[in-house]
This record gives sequence, C-alpha cells and structure tokens, in this order.
Amino acid sequence: MKINYSSNKGNLKKNNLKEKNFEKKIKKHFMGIYYACGKKFWYSCGSYLIDGQRYKYDKQMIGKQMLLFDLAKKNSRVLEIGVYMGHSILIMLASNPKLEITGIDIDERFAPKAINYLKKKFPKAKLDFLKGDSIITVNSIIKKYDLFHIDGDHKTPKIFREIIACTKLTKNNNMKILFDDVDMMKSLERSLILAFQVKKYIKPKSKYPNLYLEIKLDKISIFKFKLFFYFFYLFELPGIIFHFLKSLIRNLLLIFVGKKICNNLGKFILNYFTNNYLISFGKKLKNI
Ligand SMILES: C[S@@+](CC[C@H](N)C(=O)[O-])C[C@H]1O[C@@H](n2cnc3c(N)ncnc32)[C@H](O)[C@@H]1O
Repeated sequence: MKINYSSNKGNLKKNNLKEKNFEKKIKKHFMGIYYACGKKFWYSCGSYLIDGQRYKYDKQMIGKQMLLFDLAKKNSRVLEIGVYMGHSILIMLASNPKLEITGIDIDERFAPKAINYLKKKFPKAKLDFLKGDSIITVNSIIKKYDLFHIDGDHKTPKIFREIIACTKLTKNNNMKILFDDVDMMKSLERSLILAFQVKKYIKPKSKYPNLYLEIKLDKISIFKFKLFFYFFYLFELPGIIFHFLKSLIRNLLLIFVGKKICNNLGKFILNYFTNNYLISFGKKLKNI
C-alpha cells in the first residue's frame, strides 16, 4: 500500500497547526541537548533536526520529522541505529513520552550526553544506550522490537547487513522499519520492494526524505532480498570505485604535492584557462 505523506490541500491547515505544535515541543530540548553536549556538534554530520553545517533547526525536513513523530505514537519499543545528538529520539519522545528506546552508536562523543539529558527530561521513557558497531551490537541483543529506525552508517552494504540483523529482533513477522535518507540506498529500496510483500510504504516530501516500510517476513523473502541486493549492488560498483579513486587521488596529491601548491595550481588554472573541464579541475585544486 503506497501512501502519499505530503500535505494535501484539505489537510493543510490541520498539518500547519500540528507542525507548529511539534516545533514548540522540541524547541527547548533541541537547545538543551546542545548545552548538554558542551555547545558542540559534529560538523558535517546531519540529523533529523540539523543539516550538519550549523546548529540550527532545519524546517525543510519537517516531512520526515512528522513521519517519525507519527510512528512513535503508534509503537511502544524502538531500536535505533545511529543516535548522534539524540535528535530523532527527541522527536519520538515528544510524540510518545513513555516510549522504550534502545539506541546504538559507534561514537560516544555526543550520544551518551544526549541520552542522559533526555532521560532526565522524559522520566517516563525507558532509554538505553549501547556503544558499538551496529551489526555486532544488534546481534548481541535478545529483546524484541516493534519499530526499527536505521540511521547509522549510510552505506548500502552496511544497511543491508543491519536489515538482516534486525529481522531476528521483530516481535512478529510484520517488520516495521524506517530508513533515514532513502536517496542514499536506491538499490536497497528496490530489493526490499521486489523481495517482500510490502504492506505499507511511506516516503514523505522532505529534504533528505526517509522511508517507512512494513514488510511481511518469511525465509524465502529474506533469501530473495539477499539475491536482489547482490544483483543491484553490482550496478553501483563502478560509482563506488570512481569515488574511491577520486578520494585516493585527492589524498595522494595532498601527501606528495601539498595543499599550498595544489591551491596555487588551482588558482593558476582558473586564471589562465577557459576550458570547462580544466575550470572544474582548477576549482577542486583550489579548495582541496
Ligand atoms: C546521521 S547520524 C544519526 C542521527 C540521529 N539519528 C538523529 O537524527 O538525531 C549517524 C550516526 O550513526 C553513527 N554510526 C555510524 N556508523 C555506525 C556503525 N557502524 N554502528 C553504529 N553507529 C554508527 C555515527 O556515529 C552517527 O552518530
């Protein structure tokens, strides 16, 4: 069942009110978390509430924020991979303050501080933080969950393994799973839809949209999912190799030529050449 989650005209007024109410609910804690984390954030790491460039609430992600908010209301136990500053957990708790959440993160600079803050502010919730790699940690859990939120390492092979690991922790054979930044996992989305009976599909209109799926789990579908994924992943390999080579060349230039010479060479190319390819190469060298 495909659901259009964007605001349609009839619901616009109701949605605006709901969104305003939502913003009001999270605002105070959004800053509270920032202070609890020593007024620091991980530059370039985005969340449900910030774009990773500055610590400022990003309203353009309201579509995905509201989807998470609504899902939290309907579930009682959630497993989240990728906690960071606890922004997605804050959204869930603002919706359902009695929620039981297990959060996993490999990095401990922000997540434990954010979780401690949220524990104090939402005393009826049950929050557990597990530090470690997602796959190893999920495989060590015995609890069962209603909803899975996958927002850790955004690389497709990792998400693939996270899905497989999470299938063992569902309360029943109806798996409810929310993926962040679905644009980064095209081959996985295709494989999931082809392999499983999809009972619900929700992709909101949003900046960096998330994707919610309810799928029927059985051994044959899981096997089909693995096959589809390996097949589609083959088509992604050239892009992955290209990105790997690009970053290898960048690092070799930095080590053997040096940042300063690269920057000057970039400026020289930009000043003396008009060819589009050279101009784009010059810009890259200038900002290496
Ligand atoms: C995009 S952030 C999560 C944002 C968070 N869900 C929110 O919206 O507030 C991704 C997080 O995943 C964590 N992460 C990356 N790779 C991981 C792995 N292999 N296992 C566990 N956590 C991982 C990172 O440390 C980072 O904190």
